[in-house]
Amino acid sequence: MRKPLIAGNWKMNGSLSLIDRFGEACSETDLPLNVEVALMVPAPYLDAARRAFADTPMAWGGQTLHDQAAGAFTGEVSGPMLAEFEARYVLVGHSERRALFQEDDAAVLARVVAAVDVGLVPIVCVGETLEERDAGDTESVVLGQVDAVLAGLEARARERLVVAYEPVWAIGTGKTATPEQAQAVHASIRSHVNKTYSEALAEGLRLLYGGSMKAANATELLTQPDIDGGLIGGASLQVDDFLAICQSAG
Ligand code: PGA
Repeated sequence: MRKPLIAGNWKMNGSLSLIDRFGEACSETDLPLNVEVALMVPAPYLDAARRAFADTPMAWGGQTLHDQAAGAFTGEVSGPMLAEFEARYVLVGHSERRALFQEDDAAVLARVVAAVDVGLVPIVCVGETLEERDAGDTESVVLGQVDAVLAGLEARARERLVVAYEPVWAIGTGKTATPEQAQAVHASIRSHVNKTYSEALAEGLRLLYGGSMKAANATELLTQPDIDGGLIGGASLQVDDFLAICQSAG
């Protein structure tokens, strides 16, 4: 059985007081025990997240990492630094990183390797643009991005991955993929992993959906057989909305 994961992605948003509000809400609310919950916060908030969430079910993580452990890379954050703050997860290859910071498939793989090396769970983001979908290329784009990571990893490392399918046209646009559209892509990822790597890897692989997921549409997405959780942007900045999505996953 795959344990659902609801992960929030604050992007370059949030504040110390929002961390505190989440910390208080998580101590007071009974989050479903059968769901993992986590917030990917901007790096300067990691220490505050560690303090606020320490005695709650909420895990925390980073939004990216460099592929080197240390060095002259002004502005970057490394895997060992995230690990020092007890981050459990790190996003890798979010479409904003791919589009705005020129991270290609090779860069994504190098970062995944760096994350696994220090015991982090990489959440690898994949997804097609609207042009690619309209051209009928969704499956080849998405499976290509998945293979660019899986083919470069050893079998043990593959088992640590989480994959988030985030159609670029649905991110921050309010346009959610329909449950059928999302399920179709998730099912094709799982069947491809089954055929290309192994049945055990495919069965254990957690596939999150991301792209304008919110409390109002979470249940219909999360009840699809191959959707094992969500990566939530905008709605993860609202305590009530995010916790409602976590409840829907339970
Ligand atoms: P959104 O963002 O929920 O605001 O669409 C999702 C993401 O970018 O991970």
